[in-house]
Amino acid sequence: MKLTTRTAILWYTTIATATISALPHHTPRDDFDWAMYHCSPDDPLATLPTPTYGAENRSWMMCAELTIYAPPSFVYYALIDYNSYHLWNTFVTSVFNLPPNVTTTPNDVYVGMPMNFVVAGMNGDDDPTVGESQEIVTVLRAPPSPPTGGDDNDDDDAPHYRYLMNAWRSDSYVEGEFVVAEHPNILTPVEGDEDGEEWTRYVSYETYYEGAISDYIRSYQPRLQVLFDRQGGELKAYVEGLWQARRRGMTEE
Ligand SMILES: *[C@@H]1O[C@H](CO)[C@@H](O)[C@H](O)[C@H]1NC(C)=O
Ligand SMILES: *[C@@H]1O[C@H](CO)[C@@H](O)[C@H](O)[C@H]1NC(C)=O
Repeated sequence: MKLTTRTAILWYTTIATATISALPHHTPRDDFDWAMYHCSPDDPLATLPTPTYGAENRSWMMCAELTIYAPPSFVYYALIDYNSYHLWNTFVTSVFNLPPNVTTTPNDVYVGMPMNFVVAGMNGDDDPTVGESQEIVTVLRAPPSPPTGGDDNDDDDAPHYRYLMNAWRSDSYVEGEFVVAEHPNILTPVEGDEDGEEWTRYVSYETYYEGAISDYIRSYQPRLQVLFDRQGGELKAYVEGLWQARRRGMTEE
């Protein structure tokens, strides 16, 4: 998929408005040091805690970690721009059933917001089966708003942050059993090559907690891991494309 500069700029305009009107901000519990977490590629079933369910009774997870050459705020907003998932994601191919008062994403996304995911590829690339899951937004640790009333609203003036984070949890039942699982995305700033440049360490995982149904879904773990890695790569390509388009736009001005 190729994004035109125009699309990117329109998208960025939405983002800028969202930042200034200060999106609902909800910080995850502070008894875990979220910014420290990494995937454990050598141990496919290693688990990390989640904001809603914590550390107890973790069973298994899938986890993707990579560096995205765009600022954390860009990655943050792409992840909660659910109406645009169809543009980049071949795993969660679209998000629907947003509440009636949510007319645009990411602007109107709030903690507690219910949504439905359309998921593809669970049984392999050639399998046409499309699944569905019900989810609820649980954490929105948004970028700090740029200071108002200064000489300009340059992002560089924004107070610094150690990490950004958004998360959603399953609100689905499979075979009549509630699926206890949550999906955090943790975005930590990493220094780029050039002065002041800031890229993103993306750590995205979904932890499943003990229970009859998580044991059953566990058989999908290797496939879900493949899909999670691919989703990370697709997000990277999409966000880096938007960021580069925005940079070109700024140099042309
Ligand atoms: C963990 O599992 C045990 C045994 O099923 C249960 O008693 C306990 O409440 C669970 N802990 C949490 C935090 O859910
Ligand atoms: C939509 O409704 C929910 C729940 O009633 C509320 O928390 C949220 O702030 C509303 N969002 C907007 C954009 O009005």
